[in-house]
Amino acid sequence: MINFMPVLVMNGILFVITILLVIADRLLITYGKCRVTVRQDDKVDEFVVDGGNTLLNALIENHVEISSSCGGKGSCGYCKIRVTKGGGQILPTEEIFMSTREKRENMRLACQVKVKEDMEAAIPDFLSVVREIVVQKKFDPKKRWKVTIR
Ligand code: FES
Repeated sequence: MINFMPVLVMNGILFVITILLVIADRLLITYGKCRVTVRQDDKVDEFVVDGGNTLLNALIENHVEISSSCGGKGSCGYCKIRVTKGGGQILPTEEIFMSTREKRENMRLACQVKVKEDMEAAIPDFLSVVREIVVQKKFDPKKRWKVTIR
């Protein structure tokens, strides 16, 4: 008979460590006030937020519209945004939603990026890109097409 006790003990220890890390991150680490600059089309918004929150929450709290259908759980991939300053390295939870090109162009999921320092970001206007394709009748269903997001 297989003894599961060591596996259960190890899982319990990992669970406790995870809880302690989450608590330490919330209570002990403060990032202070961070300035977030967001460019969308020709409009530039700038606001100061408390560090430690996600970029998605910071944007929503400051009335910047951004797509999101999973509520920031990192499962829909709609909250893509180009982070040009701050934000750190791309996370494994984001990589599955990004093409090689998007990774190279600093696209990130706003719900996965924590605001830890001053940041600059640009929200791609997907709707305008699609609208432009329809208006100019560029779309050819027989061709495989790519969209360049500015
Ligand atoms: S809000 Fe769904 S992945 Fe970011």
